[in-house]
This record gives sequence, C-alpha cells and structure tokens, in this order.
Amino acid sequence: MEINSDLSYQKFLFPLPIYRTIKIGEAFSKDKEKFFIIVGLDKKMIEQLKKLSIDENDIELQKNTSDLKRFGLGSYKNWYKKERTPFILVHTNTNTLAAIVWFGPKPLGRKSIKYLEKKELMEDESLLNNDNWHTISYRCYPNFRGKGLVREFVIFAMKIYLKNVPHIKLWAGINIKNIASERLAESLGFKPLEKLSDRNSNYLVMVKY
Ligand SMILES: CC(C)(COP(=O)(O)OP(=O)(O)OC[C@H]1O[C@@H](n2cnc3c(N)ncnc32)[C@H](O)[C@@H]1OP(=O)(O)O)[C@@H](O)C(=O)NCCC(=O)NCCS
Repeated sequence: MEINSDLSYQKFLFPLPIYRTIKIGEAFSKDKEKFFIIVGLDKKMIEQLKKLSIDENDIELQKNTSDLKRFGLGSYKNWYKKERTPFILVHTNTNTLAAIVWFGPKPLGRKSIKYLEKKELMEDESLLNNDNWHTISYRCYPNFRGKGLVREFVIFAMKIYLKNVPHIKLWAGINIKNIASERLAESLGFKPLEKLSDRNSNYLVMVKY
C-alpha cells in the first residue's frame, strides 16, 4: 500500500477531543482502491465500529478480541476516557471503516477487559501505569482483511503517535493462537516478553523498545 501524507510533520495533542477527526493521509492499495487515514472517529464512524464489533460472523474478531464488550455493549465515550487515540483506514468510495489501530496508556501485561475480574475492571489504569507503557491494538474488518492493507497503515499511524507522544514504549497483548496478529506484531518490531506472558492460557505479551 502506498501512503501519501502532507500532515505528518504537524504536531498533534493526543488524544484529540472526543469525536474530533483529522485526515492525515491518503492511501492506495495494490488494486488501486483509495483510502483515507484519519485520527479520531466521528459519530457515524462509531456506529460502524459498533456494528462491526457485534458481528457474530466475524469469528476471528470475536475469538481474539474484547470488542463485543468494548464497543458493542460498552460505551465508546468510556473507552475514549482511557486516553485512547484511534487511527482509522476508511475506504473512500464507500465511506466504510476498513481498519483501525489505537494506542493509549496501559500497564505492561494487563489483560484485555474480557479476561479481567470485576475488581480489576474498576481500577484506574492510568494510576497503575507508572512506567510509560502504551498499548497498541489493531483490527482489519472482513471485507478488507488479508489484502495487505494493515502493515503499512499501522507503521504510518505508529510513527505519528510516537512522534507526538514521545518517551513511551509500546506493547501488545496477543492470543498465541492468533497467528496473523503475532506475525504482524513481529513484522512491526515487537518481541515476546516471556516473563509477563502466560503461554498456558495462550497469552503473549510483545514489546517494542
Ligand atoms: C490481525 C489482523 C489485523 C491482520 O490484518 P490483515 O488484513 O490480515 O493483515 P495484512 O493482510 O495487511 O497482513 C499483514 C501481515 O500480517 C500477517 N498475517 C496476516 N494474515 C496472516 C495469516 N493468515 N497467517 C500468518 N500471518 C498473517 C503477515 O505478517 C502479514 O504480512 P505479510 O503479508 O507481509 O506476510 C486481522 O487479521 C484482524 O483484524 N483479525 C481480527 C482481529 C484481531 O485478531 N486483531 C488483533 C488482536 S491482538
């Protein structure tokens, strides 16, 4: 995928105010489809995100993520309060959400909401995070998955995030059975951190220093 950006030099104060969006680039897939790269989601995109997150036919998403709970049943507003910065890839002709990647402060190794106890869910993550670890999470939705769109998009978003939120380290929590996600993380420069991983329950922590 080829990405053009005329805004990558600009300074942003992340996270943006909720519902604020800024178009930061355009991308062209190998088959010449055009996409916009945008930071933030407006209310219409949030509707799409919710719909995609409750899609029972998307077995991979349901098996490997907490998005049903996070965006389907949960509120985007509450999620955004955790200082998340989402970047999206939008198919220009159809205005369809093709992929999303987000970043935000999260204690190293902390599991996804699907696996947390009630008590843990009540904790304020920002107070636990005393070592500047930020999480990265990515999704590509079924109509666009497996087409080689994600890697370049994530690299682009990661570069902009790290430039504007410096002095942080990124980590990802991955299900070991999710080969696509693990390979993608590897190709982005993430390495397994065994001491915080739990291979018996298929939980792999990957870090990028
Ligand atoms: C993980 C996910 C985002 C990858 O998106 P994708 O559209 O398949 O990715 P791409 O086609 O752009 O491929 C990017 C890289 O991912 C890896 N990859 C993707 N599919 C793969 C597969 N079936 N097997 C092995 N590696 C795979 C490869 O490293 C690939 O790079 P390469 O083609 O240069 O080898 C996508 O599968 C997804 O959204 N899955 C459901 C949600 C999810 O699991 N998110 C991650 C939670 S931690």
